[in-house]
Amino acid sequence: MTQTIDPHTAADADPDDLPSNPSSAPAFADVARARVSRRSVLAGGMVAAAGFLTSSLVNPPVAVATPGRGSAGRPLLGFRPIPPSTADEVVVPRGYRARPFIPWGTPLLGRYPEFRPGTPSAGVPGGNTAEDQAQQVGMHHDGMTYFPLHAGRKGSEHGLLVLNHEYTDEFYLQTGAYQSPYAPTYTAEMVRKSQNAHGVSVVEIEKKRSGEWALVRSRRNRRITANTEMELAGPAAGHELVRTAADPQGRRPLGTINNCGNGETPWGTYLTCEENFNGYFRVDPGQNEENSELQGRYGVGGDRNRWATQDPRFVVTPTDANEPNRFGWVVEIDPFSPESVPVKRTALGRLKHEDATVHVTKGGRVVVYMGDDQVFEYVYKFVSSGNWRSMRSRGKSPLDEGTLYVARFDDDGTGTWLPLVHGQGPLTAANGFADQGEVLVKTRMAADLLGATPMDRPEWTAVDPRTGTVYVTLTNNDSRSEANGPNPRTPNLWGHIVRWDEQGGDHAATSFEWDLFLLAGPGDGVDGSTIKAEDSFGSPDGLWLDPDSRAWIQTDGTQPTGNNQMLAADPYRTEGGAPELRRFLTGVVGCEVTGIAMTPDQRTLFVNLQHPGERGGSTWPQNDGLATPRSATVVVTRDDGGVIGT
Ligand code: FEO
Ligand code: CA
Ligand code: CA
Repeated sequence: MTQTIDPHTAADADPDDLPSNPSSAPAFADVARARVSRRSVLAGGMVAAAGFLTSSLVNPPVAVATPGRGSAGRPLLGFRPIPPSTADEVVVPRGYRARPFIPWGTPLLGRYPEFRPGTPSAGVPGGNTAEDQAQQVGMHHDGMTYFPLHAGRKGSEHGLLVLNHEYTDEFYLQTGAYQSPYAPTYTAEMVRKSQNAHGVSVVEIEKKRSGEWALVRSRRNRRITANTEMELAGPAAGHELVRTAADPQGRRPLGTINNCGNGETPWGTYLTCEENFNGYFRVDPGQNEENSELQGRYGVGGDRNRWATQDPRFVVTPTDANEPNRFGWVVEIDPFSPESVPVKRTALGRLKHEDATVHVTKGGRVVVYMGDDQVFEYVYKFVSSGNWRSMRSRGKSPLDEGTLYVARFDDDGTGTWLPLVHGQGPLTAANGFADQGEVLVKTRMAADLLGATPMDRPEWTAVDPRTGTVYVTLTNNDSRSEANGPNPRTPNLWGHIVRWDEQGGDHAATSFEWDLFLLAGPGDGVDGSTIKAEDSFGSPDGLWLDPDSRAWIQTDGTQPTGNNQMLAADPYRTEGGAPELRRFLTGVVGCEVTGIAMTPDQRTLFVNLQHPGERGGSTWPQNDGLATPRSATVVVTRDDGGVIGT
């Protein structure tokens, strides 16, 4: 069974589209009504009417853009929007420039091996070996953060770009072409190369006099891969459920994989999120009932990249079944210290973590907003137990002690954060949770019992730095047959964005008020979309609000027209009832647009294009004359050196 999955096909059929939550839809079936935005009613704005929740949505009313909030005054968007594109090139507005940068395989450290397509043991003599790959930028760029290396102006010209590598396209990785590597066997070197192309890259970069950015050959450059030594910390560290034969103490796991979105802490560390780890294991028969239930709830199995054929760590046996429980965490990395050991922060829960957006409360507590990206999964937040500065001064990590919550969205526009705390409510030994460590390893199952609201694939979260409003992208869900308030379309083909304000503006609060920011799609009401046709998009995924509250929306999936793209929104302005949006960037053939970072001066924008040519048809970026399509960062600047987006 497990050997019949072609990883390339598996990548095409997004595993997040398949549910593994048995408790999903019915919870709110009886309240499948349109959400009337209470805030909008109070503000005298547009009111959502009930009754449009059918499978053929036409002109649904919706509550968008509460007036009077956010950026009154000067419009945030000053560029001329671009049309959709099907070209195999990156397009940005007039007056902007986009250049590919640090593509997969860029020499990064050690011997600085040049990129050469293919793997020798896959039948491509002269291609990069597994060892080469460990010294090069990884594959399939995703979330990223820019860390300045200086205060002031120089910090916007010299820094560390830290980026995730979400998965590998084994076709291009092993053969260098849109051609299967799977005959007849998968070698140990192929598996090792695949593992070395995963994880995170730390890349020192600087802006040259010419205005171009360049990689610096620096001792700070680093690769973190599927085999890097890590630590487990927090309540699940050392727990019985994370102990393995190779690590009987359950504290020293190896590697991070499927690193999707990201976050950054106020103390200058990077957070990387382990998403689709579940597909990388083979589960042997004979598992006990408890383990079958746990692995089933996370969808573990499939041996998507054939690692299990060569690396026993990725085989779940009846007697050594806990390796998958050591993935699905948020991992903290100190990018300034190349020898530092990355730490898996178990207090933030175990899910298919999309991203981790950090916000600091007025009292100095850190709050981390997180989505679990699969159909009918949940939105979470973690709140540290104390002020982050005082916790750190006492030698404690603010990410090890605190409360994890899961969101329940009620149809009256309010919501509640439900604590995942052992001993509270149903989270007791009688229900299979012996202690807090078990609650965290089984985060999804604990959230099921609490009655969290099943969502349409929660992807990135974002916090408006000026108003504190929190946003989450719900990318799509073609399995939804029963609506609930925050997920009003059945099926949800195009995705949408929900947002909320925490009670009293306190991000540690346990209640909130939410509304629908927008419903994506072809626009002008088609399929229920609440945007204008000229701004059409689908499958919102990456999301970030910049220091001016400009919202950047990145897409991954079916678009009404053309390639995946990135749009900017002024979240507090509407035009004819639709939020003000402008298309800023269109990606190349087959890519998704994901990951975003800016220099502090907001004059250089970094955006990632992942999996160009996923089904063939792309040779981007070709900046080295090679035709193999390669994920890469795009560096966007303005010809006049101005702030991006204005
Ligand atoms: Fe890694 Fe849900 O995208
Ligand atoms: Ca994503
Ligand atoms: Ca996605």
